[in-house]
Amino acid sequence: MTRVIGIVSGKGGVGKTTVVTNLSTALATKFNKGITIMDCNVTASHLSMHFGAYLHPFTLNHVLKNEVSIEEAIFVHSTGVKIIPASLNLSDLVGIDISILGEKIKNLMGGDDFVFLDTAPGFGKEAISATIACKEVLIVTTPNIPAVTDVIRGRKVLEELGVEPLGVVLNKVTGKKFELTNREVIQLTDLPVLAKIPFDLKIQESLAAKTPIVVHDEKSPASIEFFKLASFLTGEIYEPPKLSFFEKFSRIFSKLS
Ligand SMILES: Nc1ncnc2c1ncn2[C@@H]1O[C@H](COP(=O)(O)OP(=O)(O)OP(=O)(O)O)[C@@H](O)[C@H]1O
Ligand SMILES: [Mg+2]
Repeated sequence: MTRVIGIVSGKGGVGKTTVVTNLSTALATKFNKGITIMDCNVTASHLSMHFGAYLHPFTLNHVLKNEVSIEEAIFVHSTGVKIIPASLNLSDLVGIDISILGEKIKNLMGGDDFVFLDTAPGFGKEAISATIACKEVLIVTTPNIPAVTDVIRGRKVLEELGVEPLGVVLNKVTGKKFELTNREVIQLTDLPVLAKIPFDLKIQESLAAKTPIVVHDEKSPASIEFFKLASFLTGEIYEPPKLSFFEKFSRIFSKLS
């Protein structure tokens, strides 16, 4: 059965699109799963940019305007991930009704193992329309008070909507003393921390290279966390790669430089 999972956050810019990009690619490339991802952040769409997929003629906007079917808006990336982009053109917002998203997604169910929805930040109409189309969500946050406070607020909204939060993905973790710890995040949110993704400039480098970091630098600590998160979702075992002495040395060196 297809699991439709929303990737949500209270605060913006915490890494939802990065998580959708890399979790989906990890599942497709390492776990051989059928994956469709959809950019439901129609007012500030970025998902297609993470894959360098700009030229597909049809988008979610066309689907929401009933101009094409949802299948026609799918772009198949070389990793095997199927992407439904949102238009990059703001004029394509005219005449769309985001609240029919759930109805449209029903047509996707069946073929895939997972459908991930990349949502708008916060809990406005755009984000809620995507969230209620899901049974489950992953909540992305950075380890600081404002972002985690938004997770606590968001939990209440999810409860009211009857959507199950699977847990928290902590992103941009530096390990500095001023950051909230895993334990504090668990205590404050009453949710498990499912992954702890380090702050890594390689993620920004991979965005510029239009290649998910799990492909761009498969053995990086951030990639390993994405593979572990994918393993959690499938229940299948993932063995992290063993690094050679040279690889360990060059990673420590690149952190220092
Ligand atoms: N672990 C990380 N280390 C370093 N940079 C990161 C990390 N995760 C994300 N980023 C960078 O942070 C920026 C915001 O990430 P992203 O677009 O994924 O956030 P978002 O939650 O989807 O934002 P929005 O709320 O606007 O949709 C991007 O430039 C991305 O490359
Ligand atoms: Mg985003």
